[in-house]
Amino acid sequence: MDYKEYITVVENFPKEGIRFKDITTLMENGPVYRQAILDMTDFARNKQIDVVVGPEARGFIVGCPIAVELGLGFVPVRKAGKLPREVLEVDYGLEYGKDSLNIHKGSIQPGQRVLITDDLLATGGTIEATIRMIEQQGGVVAGIAFMIELGYLDGRSRLEEYDVFTLMTY
Ligand code: PRP
Repeated sequence: MDYKEYITVVENFPKEGIRFKDITTLMENGPVYRQAILDMTDFARNKQIDVVVGPEARGFIVGCPIAVELGLGFVPVRKAGKLPREVLEVDYGLEYGKDSLNIHKGSIQPGQRVLITDDLLATGGTIEATIRMIEQQGGVVAGIAFMIELGYLDGRSRLEEYDVFTLMTY
């Protein structure tokens, strides 16, 4: 399927010069959204995944249905101050901005095989921070699945040692 047909490219959002890839038009189409989730899930099958992890907010849009499809749990990575229990925290740089990310302590068991999911790979900062929080807990990142890769930002070079899947590349 040519998923790009269902993505809307919005000029100058959220800042001048950024060509924002809006996945909401894909999500609004039930059969296309479902097929995208199933294609990402297929990448993860036979990887003996134990748990799915995704960063807020758009990582939930792809990660939760994949976790349900695989019959696995989902662990949220959230921006600072959102998770109610004790957290691990890492700072990270974004395509446009800087922040810190949290995960609940003890959410990943040592040796667990983890699938990371997100809508978009830009600079790779979000996923690099997510990997750090998983590996700090002894988790093994067995695969990383994105809907979209911005090839020109070369986030993939930061993920060289991992098995990365993307549905489409710009
Ligand atoms: C976006 C996107 C990815 C991340 C990609 O999330 O959903 O998580 O940026 O950028 P990177 O590869 O340069 O780290 P954002 O932080 O805008 O949060 P949102 O999903 O809550 O809008």
